[in-house]
Amino acid sequence: MRSFRVALVGLSPVAARRPDNTFFGRAINSHAAAYAVHPNCEVVAVCDIRRDMVTAFRSTWADTWPTIAGYNDFRDLLSDGVPDIVSVCTPDNAHAHIVEDAASAGVAGILCEKPLATDLADADRMIAACEAHGTALVVHHNRRFLPVYHRVRDLLLAGEIGRLQRLSCYHAEPRAMLFRNGTQMVDTLCFLAGSPVVDVWGRLEPGYEHWDRYRGDGGHDAHSEPSAAARLTFANGVTAAYEGVRTRGRVVWFDVGGTEGSVRVQDRYAELTTQAGSSVLVPEPYDGGGVTAAVSEVVRLLLYGGESISSPRAARHTLEILLAILESHRRGNQPVRL
Ligand SMILES: NC(=O)c1ccc[n+]([C@@H]2O[C@H](COP(=O)([O-])OP(=O)(O)OC[C@H]3O[C@@H](n4cnc5c(N)ncnc54)[C@H](O)[C@@H]3O)[C@@H](O)[C@H]2O)c1
Repeated sequence: MRSFRVALVGLSPVAARRPDNTFFGRAINSHAAAYAVHPNCEVVAVCDIRRDMVTAFRSTWADTWPTIAGYNDFRDLLSDGVPDIVSVCTPDNAHAHIVEDAASAGVAGILCEKPLATDLADADRMIAACEAHGTALVVHHNRRFLPVYHRVRDLLLAGEIGRLQRLSCYHAEPRAMLFRNGTQMVDTLCFLAGSPVVDVWGRLEPGYEHWDRYRGDGGHDAHSEPSAAARLTFANGVTAAYEGVRTRGRVVWFDVGGTEGSVRVQDRYAELTTQAGSSVLVPEPYDGGGVTAAVSEVVRLLLYGGESISSPRAARHTLEILLAILESHRRGNQPVRL
């Protein structure tokens, strides 16, 4: 079986966390943990501008990968040997140069954390570099890799709730930040609608009136960027409402309304209501979802080719919508045509 040499860039918990060694703590919730269970992958190098993060990673994963090379500059990593796959887990506004350098050096597959970028010029350079060098780029918008959302999308495609008319998302959490986490929800609305957005209305949390473009810190401080509300119109006529609000706890749900029924979706299950009554949809066992599925997707593209379920073009469109929300706010909440 072909094996792939992997490098991780940016070593905070999303890249490096090791699941606790207890039964209920074993959910795979980091890139490293997902590579550790993938039969085709071996992590050979890691990079972080902070030396302590490199040291901590090597010690945490020493029993799995005893000879990982550590770097503080990604270009040094590339000049010592080009890996097959790179996971990009740097801050939200620091994905672009890593992806461009990796693609230009000949890396075959990249798993990039969301959002793809925080401005369109960065996104376009990333996509151009990957297309020019034949690099497969997968963006880790989580819900595209969770089974329940595929179950609901399949149900929509099969017409089980008639014609899709309306979507909504309630996104409440202390870090209901538009780019950092709202990107996940907007991307999921696009995934479910199955059509591009043509019209965007947006309103930002008070206090962020100066946000005519992304002005965040890469997604670190929860108050470095606004929460937002938006109304989207898709080319197929479906409309969607997104409501991001700051709360103490965390609640995320999606409502999916069709001419013959509706579905309320949370990350682990969905409730379907039609004329026939209500039923709970529980997806297939969970161990194939999340970042494990995203890693499998990169490997699948390298082995067999094809288009990712979470392609850079889809992620660019999501970014375009986030930026249109800013633009709508700047224009006094006028709708923006895409
Ligand atoms: N999909 C998910 O569920 C999920 C969860 C958490 C974070 N994320 C994403 O992961 C990314 C990282 O988020 P974070 O909060 O951990 O970020 P962070 O600000 O903590 O930075 C991550 C690491 O990258 C390092 N770094 C910064 N610039 C670098 C560079 N040029 N080269 C090498 N290392 C560099 C930092 O030192 C840090 O250790 C973000 O894009 C975020 O949106 C995704």
